[in-house]
Amino acid sequence: MMKSLLPCALAVLSAVCAQANEWHAYYRLTPDAYQKKFDEMVGQGYRLNSVSGYEHDGQPNFAVIFEKKPSAPWQSYSGLSFKAHDEKFNELQAQGYHVAQVNGYTIDDKDYYAAVWDKSPVIAWQSRTGMSESGMQAYFNEYARQGYKLTHLSGYEVANETRFATVWEKANEKAAWWSQANLTSDEYQATFDKLKSEGYQAVDIDGYQVNGTVFYAGIWEKTPSRASITRYDLDSSTFQADFNQYRAQGYVLRTFSGYNVGKDDRYAAIWVKP
Ligand SMILES: *[C@@H]1O[C@H](CO)[C@@H](O)[C@H](O)[C@H]1NC(C)=O
Ligand SMILES: *[C@@H]1O[C@H](CO)[C@@H](O)[C@H](O)[C@H]1NC(C)=O
Ligand SMILES: *[C@@H]1O[C@H](CO)[C@@H](O)[C@H](O)[C@H]1NC(C)=O
Repeated sequence: MMKSLLPCALAVLSAVCAQANEWHAYYRLTPDAYQKKFDEMVGQGYRLNSVSGYEHDGQPNFAVIFEKKPSAPWQSYSGLSFKAHDEKFNELQAQGYHVAQVNGYTIDDKDYYAAVWDKSPVIAWQSRTGMSESGMQAYFNEYARQGYKLTHLSGYEVANETRFATVWEKANEKAAWWSQANLTSDEYQATFDKLKSEGYQAVDIDGYQVNGTVFYAGIWEKTPSRASITRYDLDSSTFQADFNQYRAQGYVLRTFSGYNVGKDDRYAAIWVKP
């Protein structure tokens, strides 16, 4: 049977046709353009879901997702040094916020941090930045043992070496999950295909470049299957074409990672049907 691509408002079966919240995504935003867009969107009742930093034309740029939805109080920042992020971490944690997302990125050999925090209910959480590959593995083992699930994973570069920033949460529902980093694009695709055949869906993807090599990190979950599309290694015009196509088909952009291949900007994305 053909699936109708009519907008929900026109569908006869509107009761079973979930309505997506209004959302917008932008990329190649310079810090000034991002600030302007941020003020405009927040003024219209949008919340920032995701902010990913990378380099374009020698400047920091941002790829972001805004969604109009009821939200617990939230805060975000970008362009903070490790030390400034650490100070903000203590301040916001003391105010009852928790990290929803943290991304590290590198501009001119210097690491910066962008994060979204909110006060939504959470059983327990952990967030770490600046982990080396072995540090990441050690925390991974420890938090997984304690029953945490990795909810966000960001790779970046410090002095030509890999660093990771992560968010972990304890959840009531215990869906099986899997995470892997340090994957080349071929390895990522092989991992993706293998996990898909085992019933896993990609829920997070991040591209990052270390010492001239591009890697991917991902999180997969064994959840009831729903329409989902994962795309990576996209230049801006390919991402824009995807955007036009998938948005028209009713997909929502859930994960949006901006990164570099050499000095060029690239994008990775996960689209889902709400
Ligand atoms: C990274 O490696 C390149 C050569 O591959 C070198 O020129 C550069 O100085 C290194 N950067 C740092 C911060 O170590
Ligand atoms: C970066 O790559 C260069 C060669 O391209 C290599 O000589 C150097 O050791 C690498 N640096 C690190 C930290 O792996
Ligand atoms: C990451 O991948 C590279 C090559 O793809 C490999 O040489 C390196 O050992 C890997 N690092 C870890 C921590 O698995």
